Amino acid sequence: MEMIRVNLSSNSYNIYIDKGLLERLGDTLVKEKAPCKTLLITDKNIEKVYGSIVTETLKRNKFDVRLVALKPGEEQKTLETALTLYDACFDHKLDRNSLIVALGGGVVGDISGFVAATFMRGIPFIQIPTSLLAQVDSSIGGKVAVNHPRGKNMIGSFYQPKAVFIDTETLSTLPAPELVAGLVEVIKYGVIKDAELFEYIEKSFYDILQLNHHALLKIIATSCQIKAHVVEEDEKEKHLRAILNYGHTIGHAIETITNYKKYRHGEAVAIGMLYAAKIAIDMGLTDNTIFERQFSLIKRLGLPLHTGLKPEGIVKILYADKKVIAGRLRFILPTKIGEVIISDQVTEEILYRVLSKPL
Ligand SMILES: NC(=O)c1ccc[n+]([C@@H]2O[C@H](COP(=O)([O-])OP(=O)(O)OC[C@H]3O[C@@H](n4cnc5c(N)ncnc54)[C@H](O)[C@@H]3O)[C@@H](O)[C@H]2O)c1
Ligand SMILES: [Zn+2]
Repeated sequence: MEMIRVNLSSNSYNIYIDKGLLERLGDTLVKEKAPCKTLLITDKNIEKVYGSIVTETLKRNKFDVRLVALKPGEEQKTLETALTLYDACFDHKLDRNSLIVALGGGVVGDISGFVAATFMRGIPFIQIPTSLLAQVDSSIGGKVAVNHPRGKNMIGSFYQPKAVFIDTETLSTLPAPELVAGLVEVIKYGVIKDAELFEYIEKSFYDILQLNHHALLKIIATSCQIKAHVVEEDEKEKHLRAILNYGHTIGHAIETITNYKKYRHGEAVAIGMLYAAKIAIDMGLTDNTIFERQFSLIKRLGLPLHTGLKPEGIVKILYADKKVIAGRLRFILPTKIGEVIISDQVTEEILYRVLSKPL
């Protein structure tokens, strides 16, 4: 088992990563938290495969568990759903010493964390991420949120979990397109911080897609380590944490224009990463290899690379984005594999030039 510590003074916690961890979850958890009233929040897809395994291991360790399964999907990440979850908290008589367990992808993790952060002004919660995206990204770092009709993730807080438990075996039931979309975030970590991770993905591509345990352990643990370090440096996203948004500026714009329906988040981010690399090349910050290596990996993943979107549409959304500071866009740009800079020097002219050419 790998264990990674996220050091955030009184909000520090451990990330445990192993194969078959779900079955032993209760045994590991009792070392972190005494048995208590527990609300296990999941979605119906995940309930089917893992609901009883997790309920059983918790019960065996004397946790008084009640399970709530949401309908799957981003549409559920709302205040209305949060209200039904508060009801479940009241019904199960949770108090400040109780526990919320988030078992699922980023949707379950974000809304469960939001409910944990706000019910009685905050009760303990743990994350058991089951999608690759949730394992390497959303379960770590304490950003919790629900969506508002005027913006995704706009109602939320920073609220750290007490622990994160990652079972690599859960990826065996994750639909392949979700796995691939999650892998984009792993590639992102390689580009922003770790050339060795990037090379490893290039070399071990098929092992990863075939869910070889060692390959998964390597990429997940390395990603968690990188995210943990960045969050330790900048918990509330004042500056450095922004580097995690590599590929996300244009990625978000693409998701917004297409109403979050056409592309998975990772798919839109992949396109955003490639355009960010093109921007860096256009500005003379780096050479073409930074694009070529990312392009070749992303192409091997079979991701869509042509949006058919007009540059005007993308640029308009970019300027309406919450990442615009004093009228200037903030871009994360690669200078080499493993290194990025935060730049506010990307002009509209550069954007039009780059976005008007296909990738
Ligand atoms: N808090 C953060 O820092 C942060 C970071 C990135 C993304 N997010 C959020 O994460 C969400 C996306 O997360 P996601 O990609 O995990 O989506 P998701 O939670 O919708 O899961 C994707 C799909 O896979 C299914 N699934 C998940 N794990 C499974 C498994 N092991 N077996 C079978 N099916 C499984 C789910 O039921 C769902 O249908 C978005 O709402 C996004 O805003 C948050
Ligand atoms: Zn992302």
